[in-house]
Amino acid sequence: MRTQVAIIGAGPAGLMLGRLLERAGIEAVIIERRSADYVLGRIRAGVLEQSTVELLARAGVDERLKTEGLVHDGVEISFDGDMHRIDFSGLIGRHVTVYGQTEVTRDLMEARTSSGASSIYEAEDVSIHDFDGARARVRYRKDGVTHEIACDFIAGCDGFHGVTRASVPKKALQLFERVYHFGWLGVLVDKPPVAEELIYAHHERGFALCSMRSPSRSRYYVQVDADEKVAAWSDERFWDELRRRLNPEVAERLETGPSIEKSIAPLRSFVAEPVRFGRLFLAGDAAHIVPPTGAKGLNMAMHDVRLLADALIQHYGDKSDAGIDSYSAKVLARTWKTERFSWWMTSLLHVFPTTGAFGRRIQRAEFDYLKSSRAAATCLAENYTGLPD
Ligand code: FAD
Ligand code: DHB
Repeated sequence: MRTQVAIIGAGPAGLMLGRLLERAGIEAVIIERRSADYVLGRIRAGVLEQSTVELLARAGVDERLKTEGLVHDGVEISFDGDMHRIDFSGLIGRHVTVYGQTEVTRDLMEARTSSGASSIYEAEDVSIHDFDGARARVRYRKDGVTHEIACDFIAGCDGFHGVTRASVPKKALQLFERVYHFGWLGVLVDKPPVAEELIYAHHERGFALCSMRSPSRSRYYVQVDADEKVAAWSDERFWDELRRRLNPEVAERLETGPSIEKSIAPLRSFVAEPVRFGRLFLAGDAAHIVPPTGAKGLNMAMHDVRLLADALIQHYGDKSDAGIDSYSAKVLARTWKTERFSWWMTSLLHVFPTTGAFGRRIQRAEFDYLKSSRAAATCLAENYTGLPD
């Protein structure tokens, strides 16, 4: 089999890239090791930047987003129960849209199914070859049969634990990493959100986040130790812990119920440099990870594949490799800005083993500065709603 672009991974990065290429008349195959249902069952991000919403519109998959997406003009930051609102629209005239990653994935999958574009799910032992040569190849096994696809380019959209970055010779890569000693325990519940906007809360017991998926479905998180087990957290224990970390009036309003999903996500900052090796391009979590505090992971993935799709469209359409040649530098420039913001939000809002009494006073001073300084609030608003290219 032969195609122009082989896309490894059917997460949001792979599916969006496939869609943008398909609309530009470039042939692509998506190869995913899990089933479509498994991919759809993963509950992850929930906040879309304006540029991501615009990309979903460009891809022609924003019908449901337009009616179901919740536009948020600000967020609340809470420090030991003291609340401060960051007014995005008042400060910079921008907003974010709350719409779950699961829904983005579903919309992209449905568009792909109805257009008949080729996707291979449950592909085993995916491997990539000769991407530094004249013609790249992808091999995988399906139902016991080995298949090979020859292609012009490979897009590594296979997440942090994928095969594409791992196939690059070690000496060609520089890796930067910070692993945090804590994770986020997340709960999804069919109850109305506790507030109209998201609440990011710092408390001496740890971070908490109140988010949502719809007017009747909420998503809540609490910081837990990295080695915590989900089984140790009954719903009751989760709700008690969440309440303790929130402003008492907010806690009073919290509507609880049986969780419909509960999982722990580890926190990590990670960057691979560069993100292009000959005919292989890394995009999304395969190239970089941010801790979820700034709600950036999905938005970064969308940014990467927009650049990559435009570079490939330029390659096939204008016969110019300018976009391909600048892909890595452009991705990395934006990645480090977003890494900085996500690290800063994480540092302000979490309790670290080394925080101590001095560190807590510094965190408080940072929060007070955010409250009193228009420049500090504007900085948060610009980064949270999405920096321009
Ligand atoms: P992924 O969504 O990881 O997709 C990669 C795909 O590649 C997967 O479908 C995987 O099955 C497939 N794959 C992997 N290996 C192979 C292989 N060898 N062969 C073929 N296919 C393969 N971000 C936020 O902003 N907020 C959050 O709350 C948040 N929570 C998260 C929770 C978890 C547990 C994780 C892991 C991430 C979370 N993120 C969050 C980050 C956000 O979800 C990601 O940034 C986003 O999913 C990146 O999309 P992607 O397509 O690059 O990678
Ligand atoms: C959600 C996740 C985030 O990481 C975040 O910063 C905000 C919201 C969510 O799952 O709703």
